[in-house]
Amino acid sequence: MNVVELGIAHLDPGLTFIGTDPCYERRGAATSLTRWGLDRCVKDNIPAYLESTLNAVPFYGKLGFKITERVSIELEGPVFYEEACCLYEVNDDIKKTEVPWSAET
Ligand SMILES: CC(C)(COP(=O)(O)OP(=O)(O)OC[C@H]1O[C@@H](n2cnc3c(N)ncnc32)[C@H](O)[C@@H]1OP(=O)(O)O)[C@@H](O)C(=O)NCCC(=O)NCCS
Repeated sequence: MNVVELGIAHLDPGLTFIGTDPCYERRGAATSLTRWGLDRCVKDNIPAYLESTLNAVPFYGKLGFKITERVSIELEGPVFYEEACCLYEVNDDIKKTEVPWSAET
């Protein structure tokens, strides 16, 4: 499967990590950056996959990502670190509703 990685893996183009300075959260900054990548997915008709911190799941959900699985990694302690596997699939509804934010206009 040809996938644009917006998460931790490194493909070109790719975003390895996204974070907003807490002083500037909830103003749409991360949405603008992520949509840049999703715009390419829609244009090239390919899905996007990423692994999200649990705190950021509502953010990715609003952009159209669906959780496919959860990953649990045992760290020393033992402490468990959890992430959600999120998939953004390009379909006819997404094409109709989400193209207007194209980064190239
Ligand atoms: C997740 C993160 C990148 C969001 O950045 P942001 O610039 O505040 O995001 P936006 O302003 O574009 O938020 C868009 C929507 O996402 C959702 N959202 C964002 N942060 C949220 C939160 N803490 N709780 C619930 N929903 C949230 C909301 O629906 C929000 O829309 P609204 O403000 O109109 O309600 C930021 O909180 C962050 O840096 N978190 C720590 C790092 C991290 O976990 N990064 C993700 C790694 S995979």
